[in-house]
Amino acid sequence: MTENDAIPSMPRYINKDAIDAAQPLVRSDDQRKIETICQPLHISNNAAHVVEKRILACVEQGLSQEHHEKSSIRCFPTYVQSLPTGKESGAYLAVDLGGTNLRVMLVTLFGSRFEAPEISLQHFQVPENVKKSAGNAVFQYIVNCIAEFLGKEGITKSNLPLGFTFSFPCEQRGLTSAILTRWTKGFDCPDVVGQDVCVMFNKALSERQDISVELKVLINDTAACVVSSVWRRKSCRIGLIVGTGCNACYLEQIENIELWDEAERQRHPFSVINTEWGAFGEYGELDFILTEWDRAVDKASSNPGEHIFEKMTSGLYLGEVVRTILLTLVDKRLAFRSTKVDNLRKNGAFSTTHVCQIEQDPIGEFRRCKLALAEALGHKDQIEEEDCYTVRYVCEEVTRRACMLLGAGIAALARKMDFGELVIGVDGALFRNHPLFYSIMKKKITQLMGADFEFELVQSREGSGFGAALMAAVLANQ
Ligand code: BGC
Repeated sequence: MTENDAIPSMPRYINKDAIDAAQPLVRSDDQRKIETICQPLHISNNAAHVVEKRILACVEQGLSQEHHEKSSIRCFPTYVQSLPTGKESGAYLAVDLGGTNLRVMLVTLFGSRFEAPEISLQHFQVPENVKKSAGNAVFQYIVNCIAEFLGKEGITKSNLPLGFTFSFPCEQRGLTSAILTRWTKGFDCPDVVGQDVCVMFNKALSERQDISVELKVLINDTAACVVSSVWRRKSCRIGLIVGTGCNACYLEQIENIELWDEAERQRHPFSVINTEWGAFGEYGELDFILTEWDRAVDKASSNPGEHIFEKMTSGLYLGEVVRTILLTLVDKRLAFRSTKVDNLRKNGAFSTTHVCQIEQDPIGEFRRCKLALAEALGHKDQIEEEDCYTVRYVCEEVTRRACMLLGAGIAALARKMDFGELVIGVDGALFRNHPLFYSIMKKKITQLMGADFEFELVQSREGSGFGAALMAAVLANQ
């Protein structure tokens, strides 16, 4: 072989027409610098595998008597041990306190999963001052919303069975007893921590003579997601929420739940376990992939040092992570060189909704991207397309990392359950509104579990509220 055969010969003819058709907008040396800076966001296969193994180890610890208190994944039993059959009927109320919104919902079931339930629903945006008030104020607010809804709907029925979706970490002592262990997602009402949320809710209810509802169950949104998904698809065994916060629950066999004593364990073959995996990483498990931007976002949050996994995967934080990275690029003069960015320095200026919008544009078009940036930057000045490419690149890196981490979490639970075929119910605004979350997560789970693993990710709409109402129905019919 001569030297000339080994090296591809240079083209004799330069195709100027094709080259003129498009020129790279981001100068390639800048692009390389941006990629190098963003490199820490990349999760290698090996790192993903490590995360999966560590999540699995923490789940095992969470279930064990000895390590439960010290595990970052606490694995709280939910006492949800009966699932809907599809034959439930009647009218049930649900109230769903998630993070950003409070929803009140009346669900009428007709005794068959083939007959669509009737649902009326009202959304309330939880005011910021309520999120950080005294506990009484929170529960009074919830009860006022219920009263407003019942009034609007003209519902006068007494003792209406109610399912309460309360999506914060709780140590449950039964279906209607739940001790709040901490607040997350920007809520901070210190006097509720360590208290029984059901007692506080019932107290607020009893102060209103004009409404008559009966709390049948308090349920985490992940468990409600499983319940509502099972109603549609019997084989659902995992509930995942990717919304303002992030968490998963799964069905665990009773003999593996060491937290329960023998007597409790005999009663039912399984319980839904609320993993509260958002807290994973609190004891250093994720330090090897945490970036300076994650640390900055954590530090500025309402719960520094807590819920690290959640801060890398959920709606309240992804926009903040992107914003923090963009500021690094601005400071290194690699982005927005000719645009005012003062507004971007404000916490919360760039939201996860913007990330979803930006990734919806076809590559090379920036209609939504420019609208999102006008909002985030607080002005409508011309934005260079070069910057649009950079912003999209950062959004994609942050989203992909979240999907990889969530994929690792699902793989860990799937291995724990040792299921041949699995349906995973998923709810939450980020999963719903991001154009690629579903497909990237699906791919990551397949990579981690191998191509023989059969699973489906099934979107559960309004599952948090619907699941709570369904659970109230299951219990009312028992
Ligand atoms: C809470 C979980 C909840 C999740 C999703 C987290 O912040 O700790 O209880 O399931 O958000 O809403």
